[in-house]
Amino acid sequence: MDYTDTLPKQRGFGETTRPDAWWLQPLAVFLGFSAFIIYSTWAALQGIHDVNETTKTGHMVCSYWFGGNGANYLSPFYSPEFWGVSPHAIGKLPAWWPAWLPFSPAFLILWVPGGFRFTCYYYRGAYYKAFWADPINCAVGEPRKTYLGERYFPLIIQNVHRYFFYLAALFIVLLAHDAWKAMWFTDEHGRQHFGMGVGTIVMILNPLFLALYTFGCHSFRHLSGGFLDTKSKSPLCGKTFDCVSGLNQKHMMWAWISLFGVGLTDVYIRLCATGHLKDIVLFKF
Ligand code: FES
Repeated sequence: MDYTDTLPKQRGFGETTRPDAWWLQPLAVFLGFSAFIIYSTWAALQGIHDVNETTKTGHMVCSYWFGGNGANYLSPFYSPEFWGVSPHAIGKLPAWWPAWLPFSPAFLILWVPGGFRFTCYYYRGAYYKAFWADPINCAVGEPRKTYLGERYFPLIIQNVHRYFFYLAALFIVLLAHDAWKAMWFTDEHGRQHFGMGVGTIVMILNPLFLALYTFGCHSFRHLSGGFLDTKSKSPLCGKTFDCVSGLNQKHMMWAWISLFGVGLTDVYIRLCATGHLKDIVLFKF
C-alpha cells in the first residue's frame, strides 16, 4: 500500500489554516530574547564606572557593585567575581592578560547561565520557533524540507543541559550568599549592621525566582525521581519528583520572570552605582 497518497501536501513557508494570530508568540519571544541578549552583552562590557575614582574602602568605582550607604550589592551578571575591583573580587586581573584583549569579570561566568538557558527544553522550543522558524509555530509551514532533530550534530550538543543544571544549581547558592551579604551594612567605623534596603529585597527576589526556574528543570525532574519505574519505591524521591513536577508545570512562566528578574537586578544596582538612583535603607540595627 502506498501511504504517500494519503499524506497531506507539505505546506510552503508560513502557510497555515490556523485562523488565530499564530505569529504573535514567536514575535514576542524574538523581541524579549533580543532585548535581553543586547542588554546583557552591553552590561557585561560596562564594568568600570570611573577609573579615577575610588570608594572609601579603596575599591575602584565600578558599575556592577554598589557600596553607598554602607550597602553591599553585587550585580548577578558579575557573581562570582573571580578577577575584579569590587570587595567581592577573589583576585585582581593577572598581569599576563593581554592588554589588547578587553576584559570584564562577567565574561568568566556568564557562559554558565547563558548555556543553561540556551539548552533549556522550554527555551529550545521557543527560540527554534522565534529565531530559526523551525517551525515558526505549530501547524505552520516551515522553510526547510528535512528535519534531522536533536540526534545529530550540532543539535545533539543540547544534551549537555543536564551538566549545566549542576552548575546553575551552584549559582543559586552563590547568589543566595550575595543576598545574605546584602543584608549587612557597614557604618563609617567599619562596623556591620543587619538591615534591609530596597536593593536587599531585589537581591533576595533574584535567586528566589532563579531557584523556581532552575529547580523546575526537566533534567532535575528526571534526577529527582523520574528515573524510577514506580515512585513508591522511594517515598523521598517521589515527593521531590512531585515538587519538581509542580514547578515544571510553570517552567515557562518562571523562565521569563527569572530572566527579567536577573536583568532588572543588574539595572537596579547599576543605576545606584552610577549615581542615577538612590537606594533606600528601610531599616538597620
Ligand atoms: S529544562 Fe528548562 S532549565 Fe532545564
